[in-house]
Amino acid sequence: MQIPDIIVAIDGFSSTGKSTFAKLIAEQYSLLYLDSGALYRGVTLFALERGLIAGDGSIDEKGLEEALPDLVLDFRTGERKGTFLGERCVEQEIRTLKVSEHVSPISAIPFVRAFVDERLHAFGRRKRVVMDGRDIGTTVFPDAEVKIFMTARPEVRAQRRFDEMKAKGQNPVMEEVLKNLQERDYIDSHRETSPLARAADAFVLDNSDMTLHEETVWFQGLIQGKFGILE
Ligand code: DC
Repeated sequence: MQIPDIIVAIDGFSSTGKSTFAKLIAEQYSLLYLDSGALYRGVTLFALERGLIAGDGSIDEKGLEEALPDLVLDFRTGERKGTFLGERCVEQEIRTLKVSEHVSPISAIPFVRAFVDERLHAFGRRKRVVMDGRDIGTTVFPDAEVKIFMTARPEVRAQRRFDEMKAKGQNPVMEEVLKNLQERDYIDSHRETSPLARAADAFVLDNSDMTLHEETVWFQGLIQGKFGILE
């Protein structure tokens, strides 16, 4: 099925399967997939490596603001694809629990959001993009043609994150995974700058009891209805 040149904005809580769903849609409808969370994770890894996050989790914001112009952060497509810090592919490193533990406070800093937004806007100019995050439909692309807000029950989300980490050879503890998820939900939804929120015109997808295939069928129905495509 052909779809017009659109931006699909997908927002929602952590581990609701946004990226899995977004990647599949991108493949099915020939859209470019962009994971905005990966950029916040990239900034977090950079801050950790520069020693700007102390053992107690406090962030040297002034130091980070001064160091940020040195950060070359990008997505690459093609053979070596993923998130890059300079010439280094950091796709694995940005998914560790250590980065997950610090990413929400980092992403709550206004100058970090401005840094990431600038990069996201550059990608969005191309259209035919599906982007996932927390504020894509509300702040980054408020005019996106299709907005989806994803949610699922916390236990279901914690199990998914747990399985994902296991599959990557990590050694997660369920209570820690659930705690990290709940903490991030709280910080993401309560921060001052563009908190996680459902855009008024977003379609809600609660996938607690859905298969990925059912989600894609749901999306197809949404697109057909919205653009009057008969197929
Ligand atoms: O989707 P994720 O778990 O990889 O996102 C990592 C963190 O980045 C998440 O805790 C909130 C933040 N984030 C954000 O604030 N805004 C976005 N558009 C995407 C992610």
